[in-house]
Amino acid sequence: MKKRLALFASGSGSNAEKIADHFAGREDVEISLILSNNPKAGVIERARRLHIPVLLFDRPTFYQTDRITEMLQNQQIDLIVLAGFLWLMPASLVRAFDRRIVNIHPALLPKYGGKGMYGHFVHEAVVAAGEAESGITIHYVNEQYDEGAVIFQASCPVQPTDTPEDVARHVQVLEHRHFPEIVEKVLFGN
Ligand code: GAR
Repeated sequence: MKKRLALFASGSGSNAEKIADHFAGREDVEISLILSNNPKAGVIERARRLHIPVLLFDRPTFYQTDRITEMLQNQQIDLIVLAGFLWLMPASLVRAFDRRIVNIHPALLPKYGGKGMYGHFVHEAVVAAGEAESGITIHYVNEQYDEGAVIFQASCPVQPTDTPEDVARHVQVLEHRHFPEIVEKVLFGN
């Protein structure tokens, strides 16, 4: 039976596009929907180009109703992937999709996670702390930011001369290389 993915993204959507590319032409996997809280997100244009339906939602709908959860259940979504999604997932959604929501974080959790730690803030903190390495963490999502069980990590060296932009570039290479294949593994339970 066909597996159905829903991707949540708040920004550019480069990871969402890599995941869509990875499964393009597959009979057994469908990217059913891309959801975003940000009407200006680059991911929306990417979704149009990829012919993937988009659902935009606002804060009251997300946190004060069960409409998003119900819609994902009605669409028989197997796995939710957070690909640069910056809002905390509501508890009711986490419960409804227990161990069926995965997130990517651009650092080696538990370091540099938590509220406000996203995108360039993460890379700035890594450089400011003089870390010798950074990387990516793919993990299940629970009701706290960046605290669910780790599924996969990969690291890259950080040179003393690296800027946050350099680190961001190296981390993005790891994200694009590993995220689609880890999503596939989780989706098929191996
Ligand atoms: C990615 O680097 C992802 O790890 C990060 O947002 C970026 C999205 O890039 N996520 C977080 O910081 C979550 N705390 P993209 O829009 O190009 O895929």
